[in-house]
Amino acid sequence: MRVLLIHSHPVEESFSNALYRQARESLQKAGHEVDDCNLYAENFDPVMSRHDRMIYHTYPDNLGLVKPYVDRLQKAEGLVIVTPVWNFGWPAMLKGYFDRVWLPGITFELKDGVLTRKLHIEKVAVITTYGATRWRAFLAGDPPRKLAKRVLRVQTNPARAVKFLAHYNMNNCTPETRAAFLGKVKREMERF
Ligand SMILES: Cc1cc2nc3c(=O)[nH]c(=O)nc-3n(C[C@H](O)[C@H](O)[C@H](O)COP(=O)(O)O)c2cc1C
Repeated sequence: MRVLLIHSHPVEESFSNALYRQARESLQKAGHEVDDCNLYAENFDPVMSRHDRMIYHTYPDNLGLVKPYVDRLQKAEGLVIVTPVWNFGWPAMLKGYFDRVWLPGITFELKDGVLTRKLHIEKVAVITTYGATRWRAFLAGDPPRKLAKRVLRVQTNPARAVKFLAHYNMNNCTPETRAAFLGKVKREMERF
């Protein structure tokens, strides 16, 4: 399967980057063709400009400068996202990727009020880390969990649940909890 692997963390030495490298290695070991998309390393521009917003609904003009990212998205059969949780959402880099690349005409088509999905993504996994405990995240409504398990699911393949792998409570993590989570990511990506 052709898997688009998206990473969104600015620090190479971060735990998130270790998770991303583990995911890439395990996906490749399982025989997947991995399209490695490290948004910070590629200097992706996440800011939607006035111009971009004005042509947001105008396909194909709206592809503009993000055409290479659109091509990669359209070729994907699987999607794996590795990112930390910031302000109970995605880092601006990843949020901007969705805003600018997951465009009308590409991810969906709206014709006579009827919305049709256009991507070919069958399987999705999100690998993430929270500073907060699961309970604290729950009290805040846990938006990243819903963004992954509900929003990404309806945008890609509603028939298949999104795999959501999360290390909560990074504020109190230990080498053991981090190693256990890396092991889980390894196992899950080897059978993605
Ligand atoms: C800008 C910023 C905002 C954050 N906001 C949250 C948050 O809202 N909820 C949470 O659980 N953790 C939050 N965190 C903690 C990160 O999730 C945590 O630092 C990260 O998961 C640890 O992974 P890393 O060492 O790979 O960065 C935030 C961290 C940063 C830097």
